[in-house]
Amino acid sequence: MDFSKRAAVITGGGSGIGRAVAAAMGKRGIGAVALVDLNAAVDGVADALNTEAGRSFALPFRGDTTDEAFRAQVFDRISQQHGPVSLCVPAAGITRDDLSVRIDKLTGKARIYPLEQFKQVVDVNLIAPVYWSLEMIGRIAEDRAARGLKRWRPDEGIQGSVVFIGSISSQGNRGQISYASTKAGLEGAAATIMKEAMFYGVRCSVIHPGFTDTPMVRAMGEDYVAKNILPYTQLGRLIQPDEIADAICFMLANAAVSGELWVDAGWHAPA
Ligand SMILES: NC(=O)c1ccc[n+]([C@@H]2O[C@H](COP(=O)([O-])OP(=O)(O)OC[C@H]3O[C@@H](n4cnc5c(N)ncnc54)[C@H](O)[C@@H]3O)[C@@H](O)[C@H]2O)c1
Repeated sequence: MDFSKRAAVITGGGSGIGRAVAAAMGKRGIGAVALVDLNAAVDGVADALNTEAGRSFALPFRGDTTDEAFRAQVFDRISQQHGPVSLCVPAAGITRDDLSVRIDKLTGKARIYPLEQFKQVVDVNLIAPVYWSLEMIGRIAEDRAARGLKRWRPDEGIQGSVVFIGSISSQGNRGQISYASTKAGLEGAAATIMKEAMFYGVRCSVIHPGFTDTPMVRAMGEDYVAKNILPYTQLGRLIQPDEIADAICFMLANAAVSGELWVDAGWHAPA
């Protein structure tokens, strides 16, 4: 796939993996990238990416991915300026880690994982990524309908591609009941979208990164990483965000790739 005539939307683009994906797309000559993030730092990140690339391809958008009106505005603006969006990497994500059930040592009472917190993680990590991808697919479908096109044919070339960011935690991880549920949920969503969206020529797959050197993992603390992550990672180090970004670009670009890719540096989880 030639990225140069394409426009992409990346959420969580202000940090870590999302930022690295934008940089990798920039190197591959992408036409334009909407860099979406809640954090105001996204403006500076877009500037830095454009300076590094020596051309202006990254456009920052500050907002919440769970906001439907904001989502539509991002797609409206980028497509008005740079043509239809055909690549989508909804990478914005959060963790709210805690054990599912905890016994209070003083009272002996069980405290179960807070429901509101679980819903928040589902909104950001599962529902929002699915809807950002559906926004792109809906617009591609509408454009095809307007041009009188029906079922996509292979000789038309791939019309669009989505990569969801799963996680090794999708297979279960102590202390991540909400996060793990959302990342496993993306697998079902991707498998369904792949079956439905091919009607419009759009592919969908999931990458499962292992522990990657981003603020999300750094927030766990150096001691935690040394004790609980590195010993279970065959490479003996954290993955670099640009290694994940490289894999994502490969998945977007290579139409024969379907399903899920584990990019985990040989992670073997303890029981
Ligand atoms: N770092 C890892 O080891 C790892 C492993 C597997 C999967 N992942 C996944 O990769 C993705 C990126 O994670 P990262 O490690 O780069 O984390 P990160 O914290 O560095 O970046 C996440 C970005 O998402 C943004 N964000 C969060 N909620 C948002 C919202 N509602 N609207 C808009 N922006 C929002 C944050 O502001 C932040 O800039 C996440 O989906 C994460 O679950 C990370």
